[in-house]
Amino acid sequence: MSIISPSLLSADFLHLERDINMINDSAANWLHCDVMDGRFVPNISFGLPIIAAAKKASKLPLDVHLMIVEPEKYFEAFAKAGADHLIVHLEASTHLHRSLQSIKALGMKAGVALNPHTPVSLLQDVLMDIDIVLIMSVNPGFGGQSFIEHSIKKVAELRQMVDAIGASTLIEVDGGVTVENAAAIIKAGADALVAGNTVFSSADPSKTIQLLSEAAK
Ligand code: DX5
Ligand code: ZN
Repeated sequence: MSIISPSLLSADFLHLERDINMINDSAANWLHCDVMDGRFVPNISFGLPIIAAAKKASKLPLDVHLMIVEPEKYFEAFAKAGADHLIVHLEASTHLHRSLQSIKALGMKAGVALNPHTPVSLLQDVLMDIDIVLIMSVNPGFGGQSFIEHSIKKVAELRQMVDAIGASTLIEVDGGVTVENAAAIIKAGADALVAGNTVFSSADPSKTIQLLSEAAK
């Protein structure tokens, strides 16, 4: 059974509680929260107060994606705010192994995100320490972009690497996921799909989450 993680970035910020309740009552499994700092990515989204507020409303685990430089400065703060998964970018982490241990020591699942240009082979020596790998299938920073097709090959390659060492690492794909491409991404070896625009620009977001879930079976 695949995991669907709707992205709060595309929700209505004036009605976050309503949108989170809709996600709670849908076929979704996680709630994806995109934190952007205007430095690692050319956009600023939201930070700790919104994560803490979302935690109060969400019945699902908070899947927190940090698109920020020096993420290690904030691990404790995100743990306190209620993050269940904390995902850092490989490109923003000089001491990735240490960061993964710190995140886990704070009781969260530890994730690593890869930009579209970053090969999955760079994870070889740390894969056994990672709970979730987030393959970016768009350049991070904005919702509503088109899926980069090459990401499918990266998912398949990573699937082989994970299976080869018998790890339980989950593969999550983020960016440009649609009801149409969900099945192909899962077939390539992904376990979890993030979806922002596809869910929130649809006439019936809850139904769209259901359709994603069925397509991703
Ligand atoms: C992009 C974010 C994504 C974003 C996905 O920088 O990391 O999580 O919300 O949005 P869609 O599904 O609209 O591409
Ligand atoms: Zn994200």
